[in-house]
Amino acid sequence: MSHGDGIAQPPAEQLAGSIDTGSINKQRRYFLIGATAVVGAAGVVGAAVPFVASWSPSAKARALGAPATIDISKLQTGEMLGPTPAWRGQPIFVLSRTPESVETLKVANDNLADPESTNPEQQPAFAQNAWRSLRPEIGIYVGLCTHLGCSPKYYGKVQPEPFDPDWKGGFFCPCHGSRFDLAGRVVKSVPAPDNLPVPPYRFVSDTVVVIGEDEETA
Ligand code: FES
Repeated sequence: MSHGDGIAQPPAEQLAGSIDTGSINKQRRYFLIGATAVVGAAGVVGAAVPFVASWSPSAKARALGAPATIDISKLQTGEMLGPTPAWRGQPIFVLSRTPESVETLKVANDNLADPESTNPEQQPAFAQNAWRSLRPEIGIYVGLCTHLGCSPKYYGKVQPEPFDPDWKGGFFCPCHGSRFDLAGRVVKSVPAPDNLPVPPYRFVSDTVVVIGEDEETA
């Protein structure tokens, strides 16, 4: 039926039906919103679990921070082991100095930036000596240049090298030319500002050394 305004109106039962449909649609909408919220909450929980799990110390993280044991029984005089398996992700150099080198390191050297190892950040107290080590003949250093972290190369022999005609043995960093002596002490006027770090360590026998522990922390 049509009214005078020309707008057709649906029959009353259809109007009632449309109200019911709207009610149902509203209920469905509430249901969908509720369901989405539940799924969303589950997603948040699902996402949170690995996130929280990443806070827990994993076996890998514990292993990375764990002391490293190094067998030095095959280390020959004048040579270097390493880089050995890393300790805390850092390469470790273990070198065996010749008797001549042990003596040479005792001589004051004006060529060095910090010959007395006065920076306590660079070595434990036990290594504040001419060799920067527990045993004069065995040197143990973190093998990362103190300039930008390249790994210096070991040139153990006393002989002229392309980078130094008066070379007495030590480490040369090819990245920007920093040089260190056989105790890891940095030469003056090179980019590296500090001596090579000495890690904490202790000998458990003549030929086995534990990196990451010293007599005070073991
Ligand atoms: S990183 Fe060694 S000299 Fe720059």
